[in-house]
Amino acid sequence: MTTSRAIGVDIGGTGIKAGIVDLDKGELISSRVRVSTPEGAEPKDVLAAVQQVLETLEVADSDLPLGVAFPAIVKRGMTLSAANISPLWVNFEAEKFFESGLGRDITFVNDADAAGVAEVRHGAARGQQGLTILTTLGTGVGSAFLYEGVLIPNTELGHLKRKDKSIEKWMAYSAKEREELSWKQWAKRLQEFYAHVEFIFSPDLFVVGGGVSKHPDEFLPLLDLKTPIIPAVHRNAAGIIGAASLAGDGH
Ligand code: BGC
Repeated sequence: MTTSRAIGVDIGGTGIKAGIVDLDKGELISSRVRVSTPEGAEPKDVLAAVQQVLETLEVADSDLPLGVAFPAIVKRGMTLSAANISPLWVNFEAEKFFESGLGRDITFVNDADAAGVAEVRHGAARGQQGLTILTTLGTGVGSAFLYEGVLIPNTELGHLKRKDKSIEKWMAYSAKEREELSWKQWAKRLQEFYAHVEFIFSPDLFVVGGGVSKHPDEFLPLLDLKTPIIPAVHRNAAGIIGAASLAGDGH
């Protein structure tokens, strides 16, 4: 039996990561290749960085399905927002831009939505009833809603407002690093965010992804919520796996 495989690329505010994914197991079967997101994250520079990771993975000419996850609202192939990237991405035909630059078809999705798909198909939210809310805590805060296994895309909880600003500016992992907050100080901010989201949506499960999900014991036990809150199984490979998995759906 041949394994079904696809390539996933996860474009983030800080790094661009890629890997080859076994779609049956939902696991990386290559190394995880990473380059830093170019300063300013303008479209042409991001495209060049994506080309670079595909070359390093030796899949630049591969005909495996390719999924690309991106840190903005993505609707019908267009990027509609730009929180931690160049404003050039707002109302930009991003999917077409990558397709012409890479000379191939791609599947193009929001990064947190991709991570949510990875976790519901192959990770922490598998078989979960009701509403799962996955959040990614990184440069920004991404969210994915999965109801009975089905993705409701582009939820953008990181842009709930706090003091007239997007709450992610105050409680993303990048805020912890920038302000040198202790885990306890940071967890107080997370508590405010998750308690509010819990009250509004009454989820059945919270899953926490992003790079910081490597250290769940440092902050998850400090949160006091009614809803179970658990780390993503795929940690910071979830975006790659989810993007690849969605790309595989079309083949
Ligand atoms: C963006 C989201 C993205 C999240 C995580 C936010 O600033 O608006 O689209 O999912 O960062 O990258």
